[in-house]
Amino acid sequence: MQFDVFTLLPEVFPSYLETSIIKRARERDLINVRVHNIRDYTHDKHHTTDDTPYGGGGGMVMKPEPVFEAIETVLGINPDPTQPEPTSNIPIILLTPQGRVFNQSIAQEFSQHPHIALVCGRYEGIDERIREHLVTDEISIGDYVLTGGELPALILIDAIARLLPDVLGDPTGAQDDSHATGLLEYPHYTRPPEFRGWKTPDILLTGDHAKIDRWRREQSLLRTFNKRPDMLEKVELNKQDRKFIESLKSKVG
Ligand code: ADE
Repeated sequence: MQFDVFTLLPEVFPSYLETSIIKRARERDLINVRVHNIRDYTHDKHHTTDDTPYGGGGGMVMKPEPVFEAIETVLGINPDPTQPEPTSNIPIILLTPQGRVFNQSIAQEFSQHPHIALVCGRYEGIDERIREHLVTDEISIGDYVLTGGELPALILIDAIARLLPDVLGDPTGAQDDSHATGLLEYPHYTRPPEFRGWKTPDILLTGDHAKIDRWRREQSLLRTFNKRPDMLEKVELNKQDRKFIESLKSKVG
């Protein structure tokens, strides 16, 4: 899968992209990440990428010309004067606190595309024409405001890449993840069986996989019930699950 990132701070990206699973995915050509400096698409002496807002007010606004030129050049979109808007089959995603809030199902949705572009906003805002006539989607990573879209872009790359075939060492690695199943994931234990007097639950040491699977499912349900009851409204539960949830509800009172 190809990721094209458009940013004014390209130096933010290498350290994360050169680490661990994402590094290996790149080395194995499972993903390719190109980071483009929007400033390279300016033509004035000072390489200006921002300007004061029309109408006054504080802060600076990202200018449209370098952002349009960077994206159109890299994605090979022709700015056809007979067409009102440039067209592209590649999702062009603006990272902004005004976007739809990112989650696992949006990560799944983007992982189906062979190529996506991520546009990192900076300054106080971006010229509205970028939002209206260039980007195809707007994504927020949560209801808080960062200084720019660079960390959100890395978050999308990470969440999407790990869903692609062969990126995780274990092919079933992403199946039981919290949120992938619509529930929070069950607890994990590894050696030693007892640490500072805290024991691994006996059932995990029995080797009885049917029982272990049921225990894990109930732990997932229990955690979700305690920490994220809102998720239980949306997930599909079987009869056994529903009985378990009812027993939790009757305990709570
Ligand atoms: N840029 C600034 N804040 C952001 C957020 N919460 N999500 C995505 N991009 C952002």
